[in-house]
Amino acid sequence: MSDNNQQPRNPNLGDLANLPSDLLSGDVVKQALNMSSKFAGEFEIRYQTALDLVVDKLKFIDRSYQLEHDVKLIDSLQHRIKTLESIMEKIQRKGLIKQPAEIRNKIRDIAGVRVITKFLTDIETVHQLIKDQPDIEIVQEKDYIRYPKPNGYQSLHLIVEVPIYLSTGTERIPVEIQIRTIAMNFWASLEHELNYKKDVDNKEQLRDDLRRKADDITKLDVEMDQIRQKLRK
Ligand code: GTP
Ligand code: MG
Repeated sequence: MSDNNQQPRNPNLGDLANLPSDLLSGDVVKQALNMSSKFAGEFEIRYQTALDLVVDKLKFIDRSYQLEHDVKLIDSLQHRIKTLESIMEKIQRKGLIKQPAEIRNKIRDIAGVRVITKFLTDIETVHQLIKDQPDIEIVQEKDYIRYPKPNGYQSLHLIVEVPIYLSTGTERIPVEIQIRTIAMNFWASLEHELNYKKDVDNKEQLRDDLRRKADDITKLDVEMDQIRQKLRK
């Protein structure tokens, strides 16, 4: 992702000291500024390093799979560091104490990677290959594919921890990995838009429509896999 000087950038952890005060308000400002800029920088570098490490591993997994099987396992990779604004929103939503230790233990999606595959069964292959990595430890799994959310959301969510070597010692930093097919991602992006849009007419109707489309997506993903299997026999 490239920085564009024309566009205002979302503030991230390292930018705390440079934020114009009108970007922050009330309690949030006070709490945010309790985190010194040195601390914020140290905080950010850990998550950025952990994110880079996981992205590199996934690219390696994809390349070695391609060498061995002559097909691409991962269609695309997206990654981001959670913005300060979004961390603050989550602190408030979850009623957390605005302390570094609490943020580190309870907000485990500060570094996030999304792995998009073409086919349903490739999700389990990626999952298995992540499990096989000796320096990535899976500490939580949520299988919204086997057990979709009531709204129809499907994706495999992992929280992994990776070791970061600092002069002060080794730290384990969490990274969230979401694995889903192109079709699931297509659905989730529209559903996300519906959730965040205000003043939408017939929101409940649109939710019902999306719920039904989630079933179509499951059917499509399963059938595409079956066709691929027959094709490659
Ligand atoms: P957050 O507090 O939102 O991070 O959720 P959580 O800690 O309960 O974890 P969960 O694994 O359920 O969700 C993590 C992330 O998955 C979210 O931040 C979204 O990116 C994505 N996600 C989860 N549920 C939905 C959903 O219903 N719709 C869409 N579009 N995305 C979802
Ligand atoms: Mg999240």
